[in-house]
Amino acid sequence: MILRINIGAFVLTDAVREAVNSLTQDRLFLRSSVAVQDGGMQAALEFLSQRSTPELLIIETTAEDDALFNELNALADVCQPGTRVVLIGAENDINLFKTLLEQGVSQYFLRTVSGEELKTAILDAFADKSMKAKSRTIAFTGMRGGVGSSVLAHNVASELAELYDEDVIIVDLDIPYGTAALSYNLQPNQTIADAIAQAGSIDEMMLTRFMESGGKNVSLLCAPGNLNSGIEITPHALEAVLNIVKQMASYVILDIPHMWNAWVQDMVVDADDTVIVGIPDLYNLRDGKNLVEFLAPNRGLEAPTRVILNRVGELKQGALTEKEFNDVLGMAPALSIPFDGDAFATAMNNGEMLKKVAKKSDAAHCIETLAKMVSGKESASQLAKEKTGGGLLASLFKK
Ligand SMILES: Nc1ncnc2c1ncn2[C@@H]1O[C@H](COP(=O)(O)OP(=O)(O)O)[C@@H](O)[C@H]1O
Ligand SMILES: [Mg+2]
Repeated sequence: MILRINIGAFVLTDAVREAVNSLTQDRLFLRSSVAVQDGGMQAALEFLSQRSTPELLIIETTAEDDALFNELNALADVCQPGTRVVLIGAENDINLFKTLLEQGVSQYFLRTVSGEELKTAILDAFADKSMKAKSRTIAFTGMRGGVGSSVLAHNVASELAELYDEDVIIVDLDIPYGTAALSYNLQPNQTIADAIAQAGSIDEMMLTRFMESGGKNVSLLCAPGNLNSGIEITPHALEAVLNIVKQMASYVILDIPHMWNAWVQDMVVDADDTVIVGIPDLYNLRDGKNLVEFLAPNRGLEAPTRVILNRVGELKQGALTEKEFNDVLGMAPALSIPFDGDAFATAMNNGEMLKKVAKKSDAAHCIETLAKMVSGKESASQLAKEKTGGGLLASLFKK
């Protein structure tokens, strides 16, 4: 989740200033603006009498009793209605606390506040904007184009739907070139472009009409897959569409095109699980390193980022090893999927999943393992056993 809000903080003490500044390190606030000024309430009143109000005010004050209420009245005069206020004050009085909440103050902290407390208070204050999704969002992206990020996204989606008997929605974000419809042998009448075009008024009913079925438990918001849609994704429109999609299924699989812009960054930062697919060569190593370095500080520990090597064994020369990726990326590849030209080509030509055309293949087995990894349901130790199960894969790498 990413909050897109303007925050204005008016502080008196270093501790509160630090707490506010710590927000900028959190991926939740990646797209928020945070401005901190000294001077507490007085500075806030002065500033707001001349400027438009930020959506959230964090204000420190030492005023008590009537003086405090006078300040709050003055504040109400200069604030736009609907502004959320977090107050850090000096007075320890439960009745005061209640009155403040009634007056529209979102949260009151006594004397000081920590970064974590501030974050929780802001999440509460913007609970409507930060609707807790019922789904787990998994973003698939390639270190470079053509590495298999899309085909893995689609296969993992079908695998999750089958393994856990849960609803899965695939969102193909590659408007001109997306292949999700081809993977499922569909000719969509309506697509993600329609959803983006109507993002301002989108709801579940409308989205259901724009979706196609990809078999039991799987729905797709396909891409037009042509050059004529005239639609470009914007961060706001995409957020509006995804907020609804995330209420509609247990898993949302984002098939992200190989581009680098604001909404792509939002998607890979914000997903519950981000899967970075690459093939084991030097270009992928460089671009994978850049991606991992971008993501590491922006994603919390609770949000896994995984590197997957794909098409392993295809390159006869110049192939790099898992260890080389580990050394450069500072992260061991979670899985290496072998190159299997026949199986993937048949699946592509039939518009079927790999499991359907090559059930016993190592690649199909890897896809199942990957689905379990990103499901959020399996224990790490169980997965470690599965990963090292195949002798063939191990032999592909000269360790
Ligand atoms: N492990 C693999 N073995 C053989 N072919 C693969 C493998 N993984 C992907 N492919 C093929 O690579 C091509 C590119 O895959 P795609 O998913 O469109 O890449 P991306 O989304 O990263 O651009 C497709 O033809 C796909 O079938
Ligand atoms: Mg793709």
